[in-house]
Amino acid sequence: GSLWDNYSNKVADRMDHPKYLGEISEKEAESMNARLVIADWGAESCGDAVRMYWAVDKDSEIIVKATFKSFGCGTAIASSDMMVELCLGKTVDEALQITNIDVEASLRDEPGIPAVPPQKMHCSVMAYDVIKQAAAIYKGVEKGILDDDEMVC
Ligand code: FES
Ligand code: FES
Repeated sequence: GSLWDNYSNKVADRMDHPKYLGEISEKEAESMNARLVIADWGAESCGDAVRMYWAVDKDSEIIVKATFKSFGCGTAIASSDMMVELCLGKTVDEALQITNIDVEASLRDEPGIPAVPPQKMHCSVMAYDVIKQAAAIYKGVEKGILDDDEMVC
């Protein structure tokens, strides 16, 4: 097969039609009784960047709406889109348990067949790091959750 065959249909679909691309405004979050969290993360080495928006219910701490924007490649867009979907309906602490392995597994068409080629796994790691950044901002941790993870691409 060609390199083209190394990507799942789910990756291709989400790359073309991400479900959660967009922003959440302060006003919208407020109307949902939610706190808005905007987190940026990226890789200095390549310049790729992702921004995630969470509306976190002020009482339950559940992520009731989430969206993203991206300057990454197609795999980064598909991974971020799936990452957002996995965050939805979870509390911030539950969202922190999601890993890039979960995202890749959710993007597979069949259990045994990888969703993206190995060279592209770092793009889903970037999507996963932005969750940690969002949680750090939510929890008011100045630096910390991410300090050890210098992203290298
Ligand atoms: Fe840069 Fe995927 S985000 S190659
Ligand atoms: Fe930058 Fe992959 S090339 S995240």
